[in-house]
Amino acid sequence: MRRKLVVGNWKMHGSPGRNRDLLEAIKPALQSLEGRVEIAVCPSFPHLADTRAILAGSRIGLGAQNLFSFGEGAMTGEVSASMLADAGVGLVIVGHSERRGRLGETDAQTADKFAAARKAGLVPILCVGETRPERDAGETAAVVLRQLDAVIDNQGIAALDKAVLAYEPVWAIGSGDPATPEQAQAVHALLRGRLKQRSGKIADEIRILYGGSVNAANAGELFAQPDIDGGLVGGASLQAREFIAICASAGS
Ligand code: 13P
Repeated sequence: MRRKLVVGNWKMHGSPGRNRDLLEAIKPALQSLEGRVEIAVCPSFPHLADTRAILAGSRIGLGAQNLFSFGEGAMTGEVSASMLADAGVGLVIVGHSERRGRLGETDAQTADKFAAARKAGLVPILCVGETRPERDAGETAAVVLRQLDAVIDNQGIAALDKAVLAYEPVWAIGSGDPATPEQAQAVHALLRGRLKQRSGKIADEIRILYGGSVNAANAGELFAQPDIDGGLVGGASLQAREFIAICASAGS
């Protein structure tokens, strides 16, 4: 039985004051869910240390939104996996569509970041998802399987052990127009099926999160799907009441 996981991706939002207010609001409210659902938040790099301090004593995990593909060295402006591990980070998002689409990150770079995260003992959250034109052209399966295979082919199926997958249709992100539970379930089942061809155990154990306009009103129905194991939540994770309700849906 897979335990549900809800991760708040704060993206490039937040300030020390706003983060504190948000965390102080969600921390006590989420305590009652401990054990039933796993929860983490991913602030920006400069806010990791403060967030870690505020979360101390709670079971809310600390995640990062990105990392560099290789270890320490001459790479101005980048952050390595071991730096994140030292900062108390447990999870890290890789291959988010905002990085693939707006910053041109490739499948190969994403696979390298995935490997770097694992090597440092971090849990990578590998994001896959199609754009609207790709969906309209009937290319959804080809796109998400290509993105998944890029990691499997590069790292081997064992690299997916204990990792997390996130299906985030690009058209659903920040649009207020989520995938329907049926649309999301179909892609989640496809991804799990692909993993099953290589390892039944990993396919059964891996959490596949849905992301894209998840909110308090739609989370319950999405999370009730058999292959949806929680959510990767953007905008709604910045609002205490919404995030608490989303986490509660996952824990019910
Ligand atoms: P929204 O929840 O704001 O649509 O963002 C989803 C997302 O990109 C999470 O990584």
